[in-house]
Amino acid sequence: MKKILFVCLGNICRSPLAEAIFWHKVKAKGLHDAFYAESCGTANYHIGDAPDHRTIRNALKNGVVIDHTGRQLCTDDFEKFDDIFVMDRSNYNNAVRLAGAHRGKLKMMRSFDPNGTDEEVPDPYYGDEKDFQNVFDILERSVEGFLRNSH
Ligand code: 4NP
Repeated sequence: MKKILFVCLGNICRSPLAEAIFWHKVKAKGLHDAFYAESCGTANYHIGDAPDHRTIRNALKNGVVIDHTGRQLCTDDFEKFDDIFVMDRSNYNNAVRLAGAHRGKLKMMRSFDPNGTDEEVPDPYYGDEKDFQNVFDILERSVEGFLRNSH
């Protein structure tokens, strides 16, 4: 079983959505025995919090249910998970400090986006519905791209 960890800053917008899209697709493809996934944030601001209500609402609009409790990235995650996908360069720089010998497990989420025009999944926190939908579309393509490459 391959274990995947999705990482953003707060763990209330991008990474819980990536995790929810991942589970949604894995179940739809009958691959749920092949994968395990979680998400977390590099920051401690939202430990114990539910995802952002705008992310929950946008995901539902797109047919994806999110159920998550915020947690922070820790050094043990680099032992436990096989692949650690970060949303942006700042997350990468924060995560690499905890990675030790496992820095090779860190990858940019958008490296799997076939329409990738930018290397980052932009932070929608200060944005509007259009920004949340853009994040959904990017993550949908990136997760699909990853699953296509790995199966
Ligand atoms: P996320 O978005 O990293 O995609 O969960 C953010 C959530 C919260 C904050 C920043 C980004 N914040 O500053 O509280």
